[in-house]
Amino acid sequence: MSRKKTDLRIILRIFPYFAGEKKLFLTGFFSMMLVSAANIVDPLIIGHIIDVIVPAKDMKQLFLFAGLFVAVIALSGVLAYIQTIAMARLGVSIITRLKKDLYEHMLKLPISYFDKNPVGSLMSRVESDSENVMQLFSSFSIMVIGNMLFFLAMVIVLLFKNAQVTLTIMIPIPFLFAAALIMINYLKRYFKKVRELNAEIIAVLTEYIQGIFIVQLFNREIMASNILDMKSKKKFTVEKNAAMLEYSFWSLYGFTIEILFIVMVILLLSPKVIAGAITVGTLVIFIQYGRRIFEPLIQISENLNMIQRSMVSLARIFSILDIKDERVMFHDSVKPEFNEAIVFEDVSFEYKKNEPVLSNIRIEIKKNKKVALVGASGSGKTTTVLLLCGFYHPTKGKILVDGQDLRAADIYQWRKKIGLVMQDIFMFPGNILENVRIYNDEITKEMVLKSLSQVQLDESVMQGESVYRELSERGQNISTGERQLLSFARALVFNPEIIILDEATSSVDPRTERRIRDAMHDMLKDRTSLIVAHRLSTVLNADKIYLFQDGRIIAEGNHAQLMEKSEEYRKLVKLQFLTKDEDEN
Ligand SMILES: Nc1ncnc2c1ncn2[C@@H]1O[C@H](COP(=O)(O)OP(=O)(O)OP(=O)(O)O)[C@@H](O)[C@H]1O
Ligand SMILES: [Mg+2]
Repeated sequence: MSRKKTDLRIILRIFPYFAGEKKLFLTGFFSMMLVSAANIVDPLIIGHIIDVIVPAKDMKQLFLFAGLFVAVIALSGVLAYIQTIAMARLGVSIITRLKKDLYEHMLKLPISYFDKNPVGSLMSRVESDSENVMQLFSSFSIMVIGNMLFFLAMVIVLLFKNAQVTLTIMIPIPFLFAAALIMINYLKRYFKKVRELNAEIIAVLTEYIQGIFIVQLFNREIMASNILDMKSKKKFTVEKNAAMLEYSFWSLYGFTIEILFIVMVILLLSPKVIAGAITVGTLVIFIQYGRRIFEPLIQISENLNMIQRSMVSLARIFSILDIKDERVMFHDSVKPEFNEAIVFEDVSFEYKKNEPVLSNIRIEIKKNKKVALVGASGSGKTTTVLLLCGFYHPTKGKILVDGQDLRAADIYQWRKKIGLVMQDIFMFPGNILENVRIYNDEITKEMVLKSLSQVQLDESVMQGESVYRELSERGQNISTGERQLLSFARALVFNPEIIILDEATSSVDPRTERRIRDAMHDMLKDRTSLIVAHRLSTVLNADKIYLFQDGRIIAEGNHAQLMEKSEEYRKLVKLQFLTKDEDEN
């Protein structure tokens, strides 16, 4: 009952998507009805020819009705074609809009959602779900409705012709239905397996291709393709078995039903024809219908499974659409003001339950000061940055901006104040201009040029080319240093109040290193900044440095103070900063 209810709710939710496609829908629906009507009529024409026209030896009428018969058949062929096309287009159009909504929504989902749902498998699931939903609108499943009507119409005509015989031949129907359901249930297991294997393959594929450098670098192409091969073979075997089983079953099923039905009709009706109780035409009508009457039943049974699967897929798509995006969550919250200080007040955080990544950290970032975070890899520096940008919320404790809890603030207004340079710099396929302004038309080309010159990029990246130089996927056609400078420009172009910079650890040549340092210096001038520091120059400049270790802050102060009081800091400086700086000279 509750399942039915949810099904109904899902169907109601898809209705708005039909609204723009009324014409297609009506075309499809009416063609379908007319095809069914034609299928009902043509046996009646034959019956009429046999019972009335042939005995009357009326050649004129015979030609007329023969012509009519041909016309009906031809018309139903044409209509079936129109119906298939209309429904297919309807399906494509609906699913395109649904997918657009879905992807738009996914772009707004909290980052934490993607921790739990790796992009590879998420994409494959969304794609296969969409595929399933499209089938829901394909001619097959919409035909189920037509088939039911068709079936009913045939039964009614037959009841009029001979109620007793009609009722008798209906007896096997429940049993046949039950057999089909049992088979469908049996096959379900196979299909589920195929779907799972398919999702696995796509996930593996996506992950390997994303990491193509590593795969090739370590000569793991063969290993990767072996894994894929293995999974594909497994899928092939399961799919092949399922297809064979399915095909054999339905062929046998259809065949048995047709024979059973015709035999029953002949056995039941022939004596009546002989006795003169019914006409030969009626017998022919019964036989003609008989060949068709189970077709809708077979199709309904066959498609039930698919419909059910599509409903599950549709429900899953809607469940993603139902996840609250951040914009809704922060809809009418407080507009953040930052004039004094940002304070992490005993903040703890865990990505996964009971696996603390940050424990009781306290950080203060005063307006227009430079704060640096240092510490070993995995000690929680990037996590701190992500918390400050509001991508995650503290598990315990608060982040206060001028005393106001960030959790209650409008996160979009907050992020507008922040220029963020991430550790992993991401470039979109597109030109430099769009990569800097990230498709935000409010930012003019002039602003982009200005920020590029602020990071001293005008001469190098452009090298006679323009901001229209195309970057390839992930910016693989520019150098690491250029990529870093571009990401500075990207953060600067918004003229943010706060700069958050998760310094990349990768080393670049001394000249570029100097340029990055200078660009950084300009960028940070008269701004509040939080920097995850990997350069000595950065820590030397910082007003305050926090030393992270295993998610705790074990020391704080400026460089001189820390050099004096923290053994750990001295070690870190020696290991991390000095070696790197020496390289430079
Ligand atoms: N999305 C995530 N889901 C689960 N755990 C995560 C996630 N991101 C980071 N972690 C874990 O949290 C810890 C802190 O990671 P974080 O990225 O903050 O370190 P970091 O100090 O920035 O290191 P690095 O200097 O290498 O960049 C690590 O143990 C890491 O494995
Ligand atoms: Mg990091």
